[in-house]
Amino acid sequence: MFKSKLPNLGTTIFTTMSALAAEHGALNLSQGFPNFAANPELLRLLGMYGANGFNQYAPMIGVKELRDQLSLKTKKLYGASYDSETEVTITSGATEAIFAAIAATVSTRDEVIVFEPSYDSYLPAIELCGGVPVYITLYYPDFVIDWDLVKSKISDKTKLIILNTPHNPTGSVFSKNDLNKLAELIEDRDIYLIGDEVYEHIIFDGLIHHSLCTNSVLKEKSFICGSFGKTFHITGWKIGYCLAPKELSVEFRKIHQYLTFSTFTPAQYALAKYLENEDNYLSIPAFYQRKRDVFLDSIAGSRFEFIPSQGSFFQNVSYRNITDTNDTEYAIRLTKTVGVASIPISVFYHQKLDQKVLRFCFAKDDQTLKKAGEILSSL
Ligand SMILES: Cc1ncc(COP(=O)(O)O)c(C=O)c1O
Repeated sequence: MFKSKLPNLGTTIFTTMSALAAEHGALNLSQGFPNFAANPELLRLLGMYGANGFNQYAPMIGVKELRDQLSLKTKKLYGASYDSETEVTITSGATEAIFAAIAATVSTRDEVIVFEPSYDSYLPAIELCGGVPVYITLYYPDFVIDWDLVKSKISDKTKLIILNTPHNPTGSVFSKNDLNKLAELIEDRDIYLIGDEVYEHIIFDGLIHHSLCTNSVLKEKSFICGSFGKTFHITGWKIGYCLAPKELSVEFRKIHQYLTFSTFTPAQYALAKYLENEDNYLSIPAFYQRKRDVFLDSIAGSRFEFIPSQGSFFQNVSYRNITDTNDTEYAIRLTKTVGVASIPISVFYHQKLDQKVLRFCFAKDDQTLKKAGEILSSL
């Protein structure tokens, strides 16, 4: 009998809900991916680099042009310097970057602080490395972090803290104060950080993305993981990256080297060229804020309650005025009976905390968003 290393892991809710949406012909606002095309210029560049012979293994650390562009962008936006030779690594999506950062850091019985609700790739990686997750629960509606509670959870065994801003699934973002509090807690300790910042460019209402690298104490301890999939509507390309100080990058690259070695070559050249025009990423917040507002306007008169998302392409809504049904059952029921698929927030908590809240992905064309809003408003 094969002994599973991850005995409690089954099919994810994302697969389940997308399959259910397809089976019932439902509007799929569940899984987090855009249903519209990427910029034609980016697609042209991909084709061009492919046609021009850029199809063999990229360097293990990533194509130089792309690392240089990332280094420049990070300096320009956040004032933080990363040497593109020694501190920037291109990965197969942020998922690989997060896994490699966890594997590079966590050994058996090391504790890892995880805020819940949390993105689902963190825990299996921690478990595979023999680490012990220490959960901190955040609650609807504002999901604020109680830093005194974090302090009480830090022990001599704490090795890593995983942070995600803008946050999936809640749509909340870090403030400068959050960074300062975190810096106070970890300064002078051997605690490292993963900054999952894949939604850095999807932030609304004039809020600023406070990257961990904007704080000098945090920068020295951080693996900052990003993704072009989210920023440029190309989740299927799976191109991500990790920014980390040299000492951390050396260890990170030891894992990356044997996990994937290198990643899709023509896409790296295409992205490097595309990043030369800063409008391509500076226009993203307004683009997604409009989408969020199309969705929110369409459910404004409904019985659902919400606080507008501050970032990411997710909107949480509470249905406590409609029914007492638990969130997973309600999400399934909405998919089957009215044809709108969402994700129940409880799946992002290890203890499956039900707060009567659903997550809708608004990275969808306007017609889909309006139609979904119309249906939800009729409930
Ligand atoms: C918070 C968060 N981190 C990481 C990822 C993974 O990014 P990628 O598709 O680049 O692997 C996602 C994708 O949904 C995400 O929402």
